[in-house]
Amino acid sequence: MSKKFYITTPIYYVNARPHIGHAYTTIACDAVARRQRMLGSDTFFLTGTDEHGQKIERATQGTGKTPQHFADEVSGEFRALWDRMGLTYDDFIRTTSERHKEGVQALWRKIRENGYIYKGSYSGQYCVFDELYVDAVGPGAPCPECGRPTETVREENYFFKLSAFQDKLLELYASKPEFIRPETRRNEVVSFVRSGLRDLSISRSTFKWGIPVPDDPGHVIYVWMDALSNYITALGYGSSDTRKFEKYWPADLQMIGKEIVRFHCVYWPAFLMAAGLPLPNAIVAHGWLLFEENKMSKSRGNIVRAETILDAMGSDALRYFLLREVVFGQDGSFSFDALVQRYNADLANGLGNLASRTLTMISRYFRGEVPYPSGTAARKPADHEIAQVAQRTISDYTALVDQYQFSRALESAWTLVAAVNKYIVENEPWTLGEQPDELSRSRLGTILYTSAEALRIITALVHAIIPDSTARIWAQLGLGDIRKFPLAELQWGQLKLSTKLGNVEPVFPRADKTTIERMQAMEEQQRPGTVSDGKQDAAVATQAQPASPALQTAAPPVPKAGAAAADGKITIDDFAKVELRVGQVKVAERVKGADKLLRLEVDIGTETRQVLAGIAEAYAPEMLIGRKVVIVANLAPRKLRGLESNGMIVAASLEGDKPVLCSFLEDVPVGARLK
Ligand code: MSP
Repeated sequence: MSKKFYITTPIYYVNARPHIGHAYTTIACDAVARRQRMLGSDTFFLTGTDEHGQKIERATQGTGKTPQHFADEVSGEFRALWDRMGLTYDDFIRTTSERHKEGVQALWRKIRENGYIYKGSYSGQYCVFDELYVDAVGPGAPCPECGRPTETVREENYFFKLSAFQDKLLELYASKPEFIRPETRRNEVVSFVRSGLRDLSISRSTFKWGIPVPDDPGHVIYVWMDALSNYITALGYGSSDTRKFEKYWPADLQMIGKEIVRFHCVYWPAFLMAAGLPLPNAIVAHGWLLFEENKMSKSRGNIVRAETILDAMGSDALRYFLLREVVFGQDGSFSFDALVQRYNADLANGLGNLASRTLTMISRYFRGEVPYPSGTAARKPADHEIAQVAQRTISDYTALVDQYQFSRALESAWTLVAAVNKYIVENEPWTLGEQPDELSRSRLGTILYTSAEALRIITALVHAIIPDSTARIWAQLGLGDIRKFPLAELQWGQLKLSTKLGNVEPVFPRADKTTIERMQAMEEQQRPGTVSDGKQDAAVATQAQPASPALQTAAPPVPKAGAAAADGKITIDDFAKVELRVGQVKVAERVKGADKLLRLEVDIGTETRQVLAGIAEAYAPEMLIGRKVVIVANLAPRKLRGLESNGMIVAASLEGDKPVLCSFLEDVPVGARLK
């Protein structure tokens, strides 16, 4: 019987549209799932969307849509994008689906039955962005994870006895070192748990967008408990059909981004232990994809959409870049220049060149049939060396990819690409092809067999990473459907003599500067305030993938800089009139007789300003001393309660809620201008 392999991605929040950061995790899982299928495992690959919670509820405010409508739309976009990229997930779970709700409530009941849930009340800080209870900080303090301001929450909640699992978790980490990878993450988790676990609030009662707590519908289940359960509800846990759950659980690999390690490596195993369920075998955390030096995320406004790269270069270019360029587990930077450079160097010049010259010469000199390698006279040590490098590459690549070291694995595969390209250049088969004598022909046969066999090995190895182009090379080699190849048996010498090649055509057309410009223009069009209204997203996501990489598609119109304002929009020149600067609060005090007003003295680098701000209900004055704020520095002065206000502090105001001061994740110098 074949071994089973269950692999999961995190489920993606629907408050933001998909970008290549989300694609990164899903592509990595897809590559693992494809490889496992080629190795003969009965593979189940799960992904989906995380649709409940305060963060999503707030994201819908002011959109005129219900949270469900909003979630339907964005979840549909994730799925359409994954389909367009040919990602081979077996199931897509949505947390607003009935099957999920049923399973989460069953898990809750089980944990309650086992005595790990009790009622209490929570009073403390909550970070809506991370959907995280932050115990150790006071009102108004920033979230220690993301730096955004936390909100004070006081509500009656159900609690999970997390504290009861501290020792069991530590035992787990000690006895199963491969449970959390890489080691740096494991160490972080161990020290977090060692520092002491407090019970965890697992319900919310001040908003409604969630799954009701069984037997107490005034509460909704904490969104992380809801979300984490997806890994078992998708398999039918808690339903009348638990066959998949019995077959596939526990997961063999749960891949996540490094920011959600605590939820997956502390809360999740504790919930499972409390319910008496088996634990996943491995949780592997990767680093972040950075763009313009910061984590790519909607809130920073520095995202790159996958559609742009698919349109311009095809899905394999993106897959190869992400898995080759970013050292798995560490942060890595994305740029269009680096994408094109990597594509040209490794795919167009490297593998593409190897495939096209080998296959073209077999077509030309041997009428498209794989030639015989010579057994004797026409054999040289260089041929044997290639066979050895190939055998070594199979074992190196396998060991590295099994450790999810994609970048190093690909690096090892490309040592073989480089070795064979060098071998071809040094042995000049094109010269031999022009010689009529027997020995030259025999030598030519050996060189081309050696090259084609190495090409076959590389193609089989990296198929899971670049599936479309390798499927085409495999077909050109005359080998049929690559997905059916039993990868575990791969070794030198399996290419059969006289194999008839398929139609030989280039697989990786070169990209150039115009490709970069086109991608930049496409992204520019999507940024707020440019010509596009964003509707293009949906159109692009449903458009069929072109058969060959779309390097020849026409450039979309480039929006003109400084175009005239229309429809109530302002021009960049209008925006430039507003002088926004970073300031630091030096003095903060209440204004007598004004409940909402604080008098602040703010250092803006060149001077200290007195500013009156209507934030007294949200911030105690002592919390503000030393805090960096954003100030509109060129606002005409005005008097309030007899005091002059020279500028305005920028804050987000949520309807009916308290203002939240604008702040930065990174340290910024006082006086810096926002533009
Ligand atoms: N909904 C939660 C996860 C719940 S899992 C039970 C969540 N969602 S998320 O959409 O914010 O992020 C999900 C995952 O997307 C991250 O863990 C990470 O794998 C991936 N990424 C999102 N942005 C990313 C980058 N900029 N870089 C790399 N991965 C990124 O957290």
